[in-house]
Amino acid sequence: MKRLLPLLIAVMTAIAFAQQPAQPPVNKPAPKITYIRAGRLFDGTSDTVRQNVVVVVQDDRIQSVGPEGAVSIPSGATVIDLSRATVLPGLIDCHTHLGSRADRYDEIYRFKDTPFQRAFAAVVHARKTLEAGFTTVRDVGSLPFLAVDLRNSINEGLVPGPRIVASGPGISITGGHGDLNNYSPQTRVSMFPEERNFQIADGVDQVRHVVRAQVKYGVDVIKILATGGVLSKGDSPGAPQFTFEELKTAAEEAHMAGRKIAAHAHGTQGIKNAILAGIDSIEHASLIDDEGIRLAKEHGTYLVMDIYNDDYILTKAIEFGLPQENVEKEKMVGRLQRENFKKAVQAGAKMAFGTDAGVYPHGDNARQFFYMVKFGMTPSQAIRAATTNAADLIGRSKDVGSVEAGKYADIIAVSADPLQDVRALENVGFVMKGGVVYKDTITARLP
Ligand code: ARG
Repeated sequence: MKRLLPLLIAVMTAIAFAQQPAQPPVNKPAPKITYIRAGRLFDGTSDTVRQNVVVVVQDDRIQSVGPEGAVSIPSGATVIDLSRATVLPGLIDCHTHLGSRADRYDEIYRFKDTPFQRAFAAVVHARKTLEAGFTTVRDVGSLPFLAVDLRNSINEGLVPGPRIVASGPGISITGGHGDLNNYSPQTRVSMFPEERNFQIADGVDQVRHVVRAQVKYGVDVIKILATGGVLSKGDSPGAPQFTFEELKTAAEEAHMAGRKIAAHAHGTQGIKNAILAGIDSIEHASLIDDEGIRLAKEHGTYLVMDIYNDDYILTKAIEFGLPQENVEKEKMVGRLQRENFKKAVQAGAKMAFGTDAGVYPHGDNARQFFYMVKFGMTPSQAIRAATTNAADLIGRSKDVGSVEAGKYADIIAVSADPLQDVRALENVGFVMKGGVVYKDTITARLP
């Protein structure tokens, strides 16, 4: 028996091997390869455009990018013919509010709209944003935790939408830009779950708590309100909100948790406080002065200036019932913001594209490019603010922001040339996100 044992083991091993399938397991599908023929390619990494390029997409990533001719396209392969279009990286908007509607300027909606109403609207807004060519957004302020849930639902494939870098509600001082102001002290509104405060914080300990609570519930980024605002009641956009110490605590807590932090700041002093506190981006930056621009450059702080908004607020928002108080505040900051944008561009400050979509209708995000060019940027600079620079600000340069091997296949195309007229980006005809085509009105028109 002892001598038979090795033989027995050998026979059993042979049987076991014979039962193994010769092919690898069938449950791993073959990679899906798509060839995109780009007539012109602006890949986001430089100011130049390349002619006749082939982008090879494998599943959700870009496998390679090379000149037509150098890439052999096998017969029968899936080809997307954008040879008469300009192909670009999917655009990134670093300042949206997907839960906000641009027709809700009457204060009454703050009391009427339920969180569900906001969430349903957000689903529609997400699709509109994606179809406008914005394949990634940083959403910086919504009810807890609408943006987190929407991000997860989109990632699960439940609803179409851009990749979302989600914040919670903007953190505010009592009486600040994020509070419900101008009512009698007897007015009680349960804006948020009563027992858990996710938004109002006074003093470093409360700031610490709110940042930690938001991280606990899944935010990717912290939004803090470092000055008053335009669309809030009873505060002034120029006035600082939060002390330097409070802002510094918020930045430290966010960074300790591996999160970036964005500060809403219109006012000159609040902007400087936020930069010195170590905040990663200044949103609006309307009344920034030369020293503020110098500090932003010195600290590598991004400026995210929403210079399209003013047009909409002073026309449509008024029609939708925007109170006079807010109209006056917009008149104080809107025009100056555009002048200061120009100064910041000329000084070479880091700028990322962010629009405050939700103030104006979602899907119109690209309208801001025209103003960025009007106030000092080249078309290429403006596009890079919405691609490579934006990706850097949100900390996702490995995945998004350019058409390069290894990145997600987030690719858009326009028929006209955006480097000649940046308004071409207002008509994005082709949108691919993660290798999946969500819109195509370009190849459909080809014979
Ligand atoms: N959410 C901002 C606020 O209420 C909007 C500011 C819009 N105005 C502008 N010129 N960017 O403060």
